[in-house]
Amino acid sequence: MEEKLLKGKPVTEAVYERVAQNLAHLKKLGVQPKLTVILVGEDPASQVYVRRKGKACEKLGILSDTIILPAAISEQELLDKIELLNNDPLNHGILVQLPLPKHIDEDKVILAVSPQKDVDCFHPQNVGLLVSGKPYMLPCTPAGIVEILKFYQIETQGKDVVVVGRSNIVGKPMVNLLLQKRKSANATVTVVHSRTQDISTHIQRADIVIAAIGQPNFIKKEDLKKGSVVIDVGINRVDADNEKGYKLAGDVDFEDVFETVSRITPVPGGVGPMTIAMLMQNTITAAAAQNKIKLPLD
Ligand SMILES: NC(=O)c1ccc[n+]([C@@H]2O[C@H](COP(=O)([O-])OP(=O)(O)OC[C@H]3O[C@@H](n4cnc5c(N)ncnc54)[C@H](OP(=O)(O)O)[C@@H]3O)[C@@H](O)[C@H]2O)c1
Repeated sequence: MEEKLLKGKPVTEAVYERVAQNLAHLKKLGVQPKLTVILVGEDPASQVYVRRKGKACEKLGILSDTIILPAAISEQELLDKIELLNNDPLNHGILVQLPLPKHIDEDKVILAVSPQKDVDCFHPQNVGLLVSGKPYMLPCTPAGIVEILKFYQIETQGKDVVVVGRSNIVGKPMVNLLLQKRKSANATVTVVHSRTQDISTHIQRADIVIAAIGQPNFIKKEDLKKGSVVIDVGINRVDADNEKGYKLAGDVDFEDVFETVSRITPVPGGVGPMTIAMLMQNTITAAAAQNKIKLPLD
């Protein structure tokens, strides 16, 4: 059982080790990387994520600040805060926790963050650089998935990969990362979504399936080719007979597919922890670039 699992923790440890070495290099040169997270409102899930980001920074020795703003803040006030951070040379990364309250235009906010400090890789300039094969920053969750594949020596070059879901946060940037002309990419990528006719026929051809749709237990064993690798990005709450009243489930029916697949990420404990690890890496990348320093480790 264990040998089939692609657990995130050992991969995050390897990433954190690399981040720590790069961080030490920056500090030696007098640069103290800093990440600022902006949280608007009191969404409990967002509060949890923001706390985790702060803790990760603290553990590594990256400076961090969390700016908590009331849900009723105007769009302009938020944009003004971002502009202040854009102009602060001692702050290298800016992350505005999404989702934002309805009266604030997310696209405007994404555009307002300086591309140099856009540690989420959401700014159109950074998306464009990724698409053109010259990325400045890598999108956190997809980059974390590439780290998992590299760590467990799962070849993507020449393989058929099906990405299920086309969101701007996971699906689309995942496709673009896998299309890069590098050994850790070079995949033949198909992307399917809610308007795809017969999703199953596409998934059945895949050597690697990356599921990011937010539908619990959606993919079953009959959808998969025997021996395929499954990366399950989904984090869904399903009812459970326990104290909390729920448990977490992926987009893939783990128990149903387990015998069919060769490797699979568990939920929780697979892709989940990778996002923050890659955010730490991006903060270091941003601090280095803003100070024109080449990092010792890629
Ligand atoms: N660190 C992490 O582990 C991490 C990070 C981010 C997200 N997640 C999780 O990953 C999942 C996806 O997140 P997201 O932000 O990408 O979600 P999203 O923005 O809701 O996008 C979902 C995508 O899946 C597609 N989709 C939805 N239902 C489908 C169906 N029945 N068949 C085929 N495609 C379907 C949608 O298609 P259309 O475009 O046609 O609507 C859309 O492209 C969620 O469970 C989320 O919690 C985890």
